[in-house]
Amino acid sequence: MQEKNHLSDRGQMAAGKPLRMDLEIYNEAMQNRYYPSSNPDGAFPMTVAENHLCWEMLRNKMQEISRNQEIPEWVASYGDPAGVLTFREAISGFLGEFLVKDKIDPNTLACSVGATSVIEMTSFLLAEPGDTAVIPAPSYPVYTADIGVMAGLKRFDLQTHHEVSELVNGFPITLSHLENAKKEIEEKGTRFRMLILTSPDNPTGGIYSENQLVQIADWCEKEEIHLIVNEIYGLAIINVDHPEIREDYPKAIEFKSFGRIMKKRQSPYLHLWYSLSKDFGISGYRVGILHSYNEQLIAGYRNIGLTHAISNHTQWLLQEVLTDQAFVKKYLESFQEALTKSYIIVRQTLKKLKIPFNPSYGSLFVWMDLSGLLENQTDEDQHQLWLEIFRQTGILLTPGNGFGHSKKGMFRIVITSVTHEELEVAMERFEKFYLEKNSETN
Ligand SMILES: Cc1ncc(COP(=O)(O)O)c(C=O)c1O
Repeated sequence: MQEKNHLSDRGQMAAGKPLRMDLEIYNEAMQNRYYPSSNPDGAFPMTVAENHLCWEMLRNKMQEISRNQEIPEWVASYGDPAGVLTFREAISGFLGEFLVKDKIDPNTLACSVGATSVIEMTSFLLAEPGDTAVIPAPSYPVYTADIGVMAGLKRFDLQTHHEVSELVNGFPITLSHLENAKKEIEEKGTRFRMLILTSPDNPTGGIYSENQLVQIADWCEKEEIHLIVNEIYGLAIINVDHPEIREDYPKAIEFKSFGRIMKKRQSPYLHLWYSLSKDFGISGYRVGILHSYNEQLIAGYRNIGLTHAISNHTQWLLQEVLTDQAFVKKYLESFQEALTKSYIIVRQTLKKLKIPFNPSYGSLFVWMDLSGLLENQTDEDQHQLWLEIFRQTGILLTPGNGFGHSKKGMFRIVITSVTHEELEVAMERFEKFYLEKNSETN
């Protein structure tokens, strides 16, 4: 018998759509996680973009703060919905020192619970329902919900390349890609309102050069389109000068934060997103940041931001961590070294197996091409291969479905959710699987 529907249409849609399509299988992998002595045949969940590499260091620091300091009075009361001033000052000091490398005014910041809510709030405040956000493909699948569910924006996956090898000198995005997208969107009767770039990128690990960002910013300002650069992986930078990987970057691009360009222009059309979820591996603390010189945007954010506000206790604890810049420096150095090591482990196996992949500059990922293992270049075969890899190796990857890209057989591997030792075991299993499967297929 059909159950009575007690929800709104929106509620019904929400009830019918799981957060992630791979949630069940992810839980299965988590329950059967690999441990060298107690569960040596266990699984490696490498699908959720988490960074566990240096949590111990951060945990010790937080525990020390909690032991040694009293919780201040203001923590128990309501605060500024866009982040209390002392927290925004700590964030501006941190971002200015480590990401943007220039001073940032705390009044250009608005904070809420994770980049997820920052993306939603920004979309809500900048665009009308039905407007379009253009995102170069492949890209983060959850953007669709973050811009769509509350703010009602449509996602346009901009195809700039098909093969991963076309990314070797950086993202091949040009102004004609943007102009053509604009034309196509307008012909469909909607408006190109936002361009979202992710740098370092999820899933490709690529970065935009400063020159490219300047050109794209010029175009967006001229067309009155909001350009937002998501630098959520901005400090997850791989050492591309490392002797073991240097050869993969013949014309190495240097990562420079979009915040520098924004500061020069102070434009109402240029914005930056950041979050502590990835570089600091604390996705559970839910801290996201919007940086913008658009005063109205920040005012609107503050006025309606209470539903998304970060707990004052979290703000207090993290402001204490972030204002200890000597600690943050040490943390980031350790993290970047550990990240580079993880990357090298994965890269070595892929090189050995001659699997095409994009040499990452940063992020928590490697984006690889397993299309050679597909019988048919379809979503269905890609899905089957993803399941087969998991069932035979225990390695849970993310298949290309949802990233909006034209090429089938692409997979994302999260390199920071397991230790270096675990990653080595996972890569050994993967190698064995690949060699067997490849000899069957070819
Ligand atoms: C590009 C991108 N933006 C936003 C998010 C969400 O971040 P948060 O946990 O801070 O909400 C993620 C998480 O994977 C991401 O990859």
